[in-house]
This record gives sequence, structure tokens and C-alpha cells, in this order.
Amino acid sequence: MSSLGSETNPLRVAIVGSGPSGFYATEALIKSDLVVEVDLIERLPAPFGLVRNGVAPDHPKLKQAIEVYKKIAQSPKFNFVGNVTVGKDIQAEELQQTHHAVIYTYGAETDRKLGIPGEDLQGSYTATEFVGWYNGHPDYRDRTFDLSHETVVVIGQGNVAADVSRILAKSVDELKHTDISQHALEVLAESKIKKIYIVGRRGPAQAKFASKELKEFLEIENCRAYIDPAELQLNEISQQELAEKEGRGAKKNVEIFQKFADSEGTDRPRICTSTFLKSPIRLEGNGQLEKVVLEINELAGEPFKQSAKGTGETMEIDCGILFRSIGYNGVPIPGVPFYEHWGTIPNKEGRITTEQDGDVVTGLYTAGWIKRGPSGIIGTNRACAVETVHSLLEDVEKFDVTKPGREGLYKILDSNGVQYINYSQWEIIDAAEIAAGEPKGKPREKFTRRDEMLALANN
Ligand SMILES: Cc1cc2nc3c(=O)[nH]c(=O)nc-3n(C[C@H](O)[C@H](O)[C@H](O)COP(=O)(O)OP(=O)(O)OC[C@H]3O[C@@H](n4cnc5c(N)ncnc54)[C@H](O)[C@@H]3O)c2cc1C
Ligand SMILES: NC(=O)c1ccc[n+]([C@@H]2O[C@H](COP(=O)([O-])OP(=O)(O)OC[C@H]3O[C@@H](n4cnc5c(N)ncnc54)[C@H](OP(=O)(O)O)[C@@H]3O)[C@@H](O)[C@H]2O)c1
Repeated sequence: MSSLGSETNPLRVAIVGSGPSGFYATEALIKSDLVVEVDLIERLPAPFGLVRNGVAPDHPKLKQAIEVYKKIAQSPKFNFVGNVTVGKDIQAEELQQTHHAVIYTYGAETDRKLGIPGEDLQGSYTATEFVGWYNGHPDYRDRTFDLSHETVVVIGQGNVAADVSRILAKSVDELKHTDISQHALEVLAESKIKKIYIVGRRGPAQAKFASKELKEFLEIENCRAYIDPAELQLNEISQQELAEKEGRGAKKNVEIFQKFADSEGTDRPRICTSTFLKSPIRLEGNGQLEKVVLEINELAGEPFKQSAKGTGETMEIDCGILFRSIGYNGVPIPGVPFYEHWGTIPNKEGRITTEQDGDVVTGLYTAGWIKRGPSGIIGTNRACAVETVHSLLEDVEKFDVTKPGREGLYKILDSNGVQYINYSQWEIIDAAEIAAGEPKGKPREKFTRRDEMLALANN
């Protein structure tokens, strides 16, 4: 047998999850000096992960990363295997038998819990399900959101909370020419929401919004962005933070918040109020959410490490709807080491290690949110995937020389009766979505049901 990574014996790598990290790992492998065959396995019949299912519909520029992924997909070394869930349609151990190496890039698909009474009351939702729903993710397509209440509270002050609040705040006219799903547009058209509170447990200088995202609130036609000026009084340590280079982003945010505070008198049908130093301790209601009880916090700790400490004092906001937007969380795949506490895969520079003793497991790698945790923008995953592929390429000598690659993969999927799709079949779905969007002036109208997508792909 010739050496691994040659024309006669290509390096066969399976990558699990076709979001940014899966595509960037593919790109790094394709660019290497070895002859490679990459099988990119995706549980949905559509690629691109959160760029398709997470990035807000009114942010089309941020979806341009897809153009880069489309180019990567044209490489003859690339193969897409869609509609296959690893851990269900094929087991992790089986992939180790079919491929020289497996890279897990399957993201963080669930949400963190607040762990407070009333979290599951009717009207209390997660950002994860709302985002999936308005973006047409098949798993969330049939969720229902009752937007017939006037007041909504969003817990968390990260960019996802900004996305959720902005979508709730905008008029249908501002959304109807985006790729937002039709079912979401119809429900948003009937929304009775007038007041949106975005609640942070720390202060204005610690909010995790990107300044660009925050600024957009000043431009929403339908909605006034507001802050009580008294909430912008910073403690001494926060003022120190803003004076440091590291605090530049926060300083910009505070300047924008100042503009919110100056918006008194702006007459718009909705108001979106940011409020700080408050943690939810209880949701109350008789089956249906009626109010959130918040504990007032103060900040304690060194610059850039200040955390929220409860004062014992509480306040309430009457609301019929609440979104928890406090971060995503990874889920395990059976047979793949997993840190339950962090919701990530244990690894050293992308090499998967056992949870117990930290020993490297030969041939297993990880990149993206499931490697690092659910933070970082699309581009962050590129350097992350490059690091992982660098580790993999250093290890090639340790791999078993003979592996069947995609031939073995297809054999298992066929014997399990799995209906997988390839990249050309995805392109048929893609073209049909674009065509369906055209008469509505939308970039695309997404298919939101797997069976529709599969029927089209197999036509
Ligand atoms: C709501 C939201 C909006 C965002 N907006 C922006 C933005 O505007 N700009 C920006 O730069 N960043 C944005 N981000 C961050 C960005 O989306 C992430 O950094 C990036 O998507 C993480 O990439 P990933 O490949 O690790 O995971 P993902 O993008 O989540 O991709 C993981 C893929 O794995 C698949 N998968 C999961 N389990 C399995 C399995 N068992 N078998 C097979 N496949 C599986 C999933 O279906 C998914 O396609 C946003 C994040 C969120 C949550
Ligand atoms: N346009 C974009 O570029 C874009 C859009 C969306 C998402 N993203 C990226 O995707 C990543 C994930 O975003 P995210 O918004 O989900 O996460 P995030 O940035 O980590 O924000 C989570 C928010 O929830 C708060 N929080 C956490 N636990 C809490 C609790 N128990 N009680 C109350 N509040 C709590 C956090 O407060 P603390 O700060 O106190 O922990 C923080 O305000 C980020 O890196 C983000 O930048 C980017």
C-alpha cells in the first residue's frame, strides 16, 4: 500500500457538521499538500449551519460567507452527505472504521437553562427555538409563539438577544424582503407587542452586544430604543475599563446607549428598553407567564472580571412573553468524549482527548463551537479549524493505512436505509428556494420541511 495522502491512497476524512467550522476544516484539508477526500456529513438536507439557520434574515451581508463555502464545495476533493445524523443514522465508532480521521464540527444546538422557577410557563421561550423558527429550521418550523401580549422581556445582552429583539421590534415592511420564513412573517404581522425589555445581569459596560448591532436599534422605523439615563451611571471600575484599550468596544456601546437615553420624545409605536444589573429569579403566572421577578445586582470584582452579585432587592416586570437568550449549549454524540459541564468536546489543539485522563484519541478531532464553546463570530471558526487540521496533518503517520472512506460510509447508510443527499441535490433545493423567493422580492423562500426538500432533491 502506498503512503497515506497519495493518489493511490488518499487521506480520507469525515467531517461532522457543515457549518462554518466544517467548511473551514474542509478548506484547510483541500489546501494541504496531501491528496485528500473529504466527506462532509450534515444532519439537515441543507448545508451552512448557523449561517443559514442562525444569522438574522435582515443581515444578508453576514450571510455572504456562504459564497466562500460554495467555492469550497466545487473542489473534486469535497463530497457532501446531507440528511445524515451522526449518532443516529451512523455511529461515531463506525465512522472511525470508514475514515482515517473524523473531525467533529457539529456546533452547539441547544440552549443554556436559567434554572429558575417558572422557566417552562406558557409564554417563556428560548432564543434558540425562536431563531430556528424565523429562519425556517425544519426542527423548529412547527413551534408556536403567542405574540398577542403587549410586553416582552428578553433575558441576556449578547448579539443573539439583539437579533431576537430587533426581529420583534421591526415592522413587517422592514422584514418582508428578507429571507425570513413565511410562517414567521405571518405571525409577526399579527404581533401585539409594544414594549420590549432587554435585561442584562451586569452593567452597560459589560453588555456583549457588538456596537454595530446596537446602533441598528436607532434605525428601526417602528421602534424607539430607550434607556433610563440613571442606568448609565457607571461604577468606578467600569469607568476604568472604558479607559483601557481592551474596553474600546464597551466604550462605543456606552456612547450608543447614551443616544438611547437621549431618545425621549421620539414617537414610535414600539419601545425597546435596555435595562441593567438585574437577574431573573422567578417567572410567575397561572399556567401562562404573567410577570418576571428580577433581583437587583451590583458589580463586584477586578476590571474586566466584574460579576453580578444579588443585593436581595427585587423588582417585577409584568409580561406575557419572555425569551431566554443566555447562550447556546453543545450536546453529546454517543461514543465521542464530552465535557458535560462545558457542553464541549475535550481537546488539545483540536485533538480529541478522553474526558477522564486527557489522553489523545488517535484519529478524532474537533473544531468550531463544539470545540471552544458557543462564542465567536463566523470568521473565528476559520483559525480554529486551521489549528485542528494542522494537528491532524501532523498525526497522519499514526493513522491506519487502509480505510474504505465514502464507499464504506455509503454501505452503512444504505444498509440502514438512510436517504442521504449529495451537493448537486442540495443545489436543486437551493435553486428552487431562490426561484420561490423571486416573486415576493425575497432572496429566497426556504423550504422548512425535510420531506419537501428530499422529494425535490430526488425528483
Ligand atoms: C442566532 C445566531 C446568530 C448569529 N449571527 C452571526 C452573525 O450575524 N455574524 C457572525 O459572524 N456570526 C454569527 N453567529 C455566530 C456563528 O453563527 C457561529 O460562530 C458559527 O456558526 C459556529 O460554527 P460551527 O460550524 O461551529 O457550528 P454551526 O454553524 O452550528 O454548524 C454545525 C452544523 O452541524 C450540524 N449537526 C449538528 N449535529 C449533527 C450531527 N449529529 N450529525 C451531523 N450534523 C450535525 C448542524 O445541523 C449544523 O449544520 C450567530 C450565532 C447565532 C446562534
Ligand atoms: N451579528 C453578529 O456578529 C452575531 C449575531 C449573533 C451572535 N453572534 C455571536 O454568537 C455568539 C453567541 O451569542 P449569544 O448572544 O448567544 O451569547 P453571549 O454573547 O455569550 O451573550 C449571552 C448573554 O447572556 C447573559 N447570561 C448568561 N447567563 C445568564 C444568566 N444565568 N442569567 C442572566 N443572564 C445570563 C450573559 O451575561 P454575562 O455577560 O454576564 O455572562 C450575556 O449577556 C457570540 O460570540 C456572538 O457575538 C454574532
